[in-house]
Amino acid sequence: MKSKIVIGNWKMNKSFDEAEDLITEIEEILADLNLSTLVVLAPPFPYLELATDHAPDGNFECAAQNCSQFNNGAYTGEVSASMLADIDVEFCIVGHSERRKYFNETNEILAEKVNRLTEVGLIPIYCCGETVEEREAGVHFDVIEKQIKEGLFHLLPESLERVIVAYEPVWAIGTGLTATPQQAEEVHLFIRSLIEKKYGTEAAYNLNILYGGSCNPSNALELFTQPNIDGGLIGGASLNTKEFIEIVEAAETAGSDK
Ligand code: PGA
Repeated sequence: MKSKIVIGNWKMNKSFDEAEDLITEIEEILADLNLSTLVVLAPPFPYLELATDHAPDGNFECAAQNCSQFNNGAYTGEVSASMLADIDVEFCIVGHSERRKYFNETNEILAEKVNRLTEVGLIPIYCCGETVEEREAGVHFDVIEKQIKEGLFHLLPESLERVIVAYEPVWAIGTGLTATPQQAEEVHLFIRSLIEKKYGTEAAYNLNILYGGSCNPSNALELFTQPNIDGGLIGGASLNTKEFIEIVEAAETAGSDK
């Protein structure tokens, strides 16, 4: 049985004081719950060290929301994977649809980011997902296949083993429109079959594939009990302690039922 994973993607939200309150509240609740679910918090860069300082006692791990595709050097405004490793960040979101859309991140750039992360031992959380136009045109599987192949298929099996994939249909992000459990499951199964063809059955089974897009306390359990959904990447609902913990508890229930 695989334990579920729940990742809170705070995006560009919260003041420093609010971030500290949210981390402390989550830390205190998790301390009492003794969960097998892996909880990961992804605050904005300036709050990461605050989060990693709490993480050792907090029953959670920390993720960055982005990193540079370069190692180091004259890249003003960028943050390297090794800088994240230096402050004990263990995960990094790569290729969120907001980065693909607003910052023109291509699969080729994202493949480089994945490389920088695996080189320093960080775990990439590689996002993929189709737009509403692509789904309506019926090309969503093609889009996802291209994102997975171009972003990940250059990896050696030992690096792929350390990657998490997040399926986030763009039309479901921040819109309140969740993919149905069946829609999500169908795509998760498809992603797993792509991995199986390239890396084999064991790698495909071991790969964690998270769902993201308007996941909330009322839909989390049904999503997380689908056979190929290994947890969630949570945006809006991760900004509220109660909602986030309810989603974590749904993951725990789904994980122990499996
Ligand atoms: P949402 O965002 O839960 O607010 O839809 C998910 C994400 O973008 O990771």
